[in-house]
Amino acid sequence: MAAHEALRELAVSQTTAARRDTVTITDNRTGKSYELPISYGTYPLSGASIPAVELRAVKRSTEDFGLLSYDPAFMNTASCRSAVTFIDGERGILEYRGYPIDQLAETSTYLEVAYLLIHGELPTGQQYDAWEAGIKRESLLHENMKKFMDGFWHDAHPMGIFACTVGALSTFYPESKQVHDPGNRMRQIVRLIAKVPSIAAYSYRHSLGLPYIYPDVDRSYAGNLLNMLFNYPDGRDGQINPVIERAIDVLFILHADHEQNCSTTTMRAVGSSLADPYVSVASASSALYGPLHGGANEQVLRMLTEIGHVKNVPAYVERVKRGELRLMGFGHRVYKNYDPRARVIKRMFDDVFAVTGTNPLLDIAVELERVALRDEYFISRKLYPNVDFYSGLIYQAIGLPMDMFPVLFAIPRTTGWLAHWQEMLGDGEQKIARPRQVYTGPTRRDYVPMEGR
Ligand code: SDX
Repeated sequence: MAAHEALRELAVSQTTAARRDTVTITDNRTGKSYELPISYGTYPLSGASIPAVELRAVKRSTEDFGLLSYDPAFMNTASCRSAVTFIDGERGILEYRGYPIDQLAETSTYLEVAYLLIHGELPTGQQYDAWEAGIKRESLLHENMKKFMDGFWHDAHPMGIFACTVGALSTFYPESKQVHDPGNRMRQIVRLIAKVPSIAAYSYRHSLGLPYIYPDVDRSYAGNLLNMLFNYPDGRDGQINPVIERAIDVLFILHADHEQNCSTTTMRAVGSSLADPYVSVASASSALYGPLHGGANEQVLRMLTEIGHVKNVPAYVERVKRGELRLMGFGHRVYKNYDPRARVIKRMFDDVFAVTGTNPLLDIAVELERVALRDEYFISRKLYPNVDFYSGLIYQAIGLPMDMFPVLFAIPRTTGWLAHWQEMLGDGEQKIARPRQVYTGPTRRDYVPMEGR
């Protein structure tokens, strides 16, 4: 029986045996008890929760504000109910709208997965054709965007260009502020999915001082990106290798969504103020840029380059264990098992490197994984390779510079951000995100004029 089937079977048996779906909290300061309801998600063993707001009833007196749940970095806080993506970190399970990630990577395409994430179901042939045609129609950027991008220094980091340019699109589509209009929302969703490859390619070409290449609607989504990145502006039919085109498409499937990660949480928070989707995606891109999140794939390649040779791996691992630095591409807030996306990427290596020639850093990465997975420091902390550990090796092998890696992450994750943005706006339980705090500053005191200090 598959792991998630066992999960569901076990949950049903345990749920039916339970006396009541509640927890009782006793406040020992007053001796009073409070009963809170437990609610469940699709997989009861992975989503049982209590309504934190009901902790406010736990008071010592009527003047008491009541209890807050204190959870820095949201280690154990569910911010929403979501039907987009399911992750079981202990079992290494990842499903988009119920479909296992390895099945989608094996048999689907990124645009089909994007439809699934946004609409909730796999498209019929007719639905897919309309979806793809709409995205092709919107792949061009306003000519003024070139002037905007030309303002960046030649060595501007492409991720900085990406985040700023996506935000600037907000000024070209002011009607996108009508976030409660479903038709308007969908028009902006299609525009963003269509335009992010063009922005990514333009930011790369800008960094090389090369002319921009317009989108080619006769190519696939991945083929169009590769064409805009690497081909000649005179329109000659620069052949894109189908193995590389498929590899990019699969990497986009793997990176499309990952439930409430840092950047998606940012997208939901910014979107909850009813900001338009362009500035919300720009904010999410900024969160993704960080080296602990989407910037990790770039840091992995810098780390492997610094290690330089397989013989240097043991010494590097010892430095990590001494706390001097982190093993980039390892560890995950949710996965305490092998990231299923890293497994899929490793299976791609033979096909890609048969075309591009192997990446000499691969041997170092494989040795790092071998040593770490046998070392108590990593075993005890359940640190495994995550999606970023191997993805950069493919991007580098096809000729992209390291600072483009987070941009290649942002392109597909735009779909995940938009799927969650749309879900948040339609969720009657959601309102503007505004957490509470535990104040630890000085008690009230009066102002002291300068001469009296
Ligand atoms: C992504 O959330 C998502 O879903 C993200 C993502 C997505 O698709 O959106 O999956 C994409 O961001 C993947 C993660 C990419 N980042 C990295 O590879 C950077 C390296 N990894 C770490 O910095 C870390 O593992 C995080 C940030 C990913 C998770 O950090 P947590 O959950 O806050 O864990 P922690 O920092 O509290 O670490 C727990 C322990 C600590 O040791 P002790 O203090 O208990 O002794 O594990 C150690 C950490 O020092 N640790 C590591 C480590 N990661 C955690 N030690 C060495 N190397 C590491 N990579």
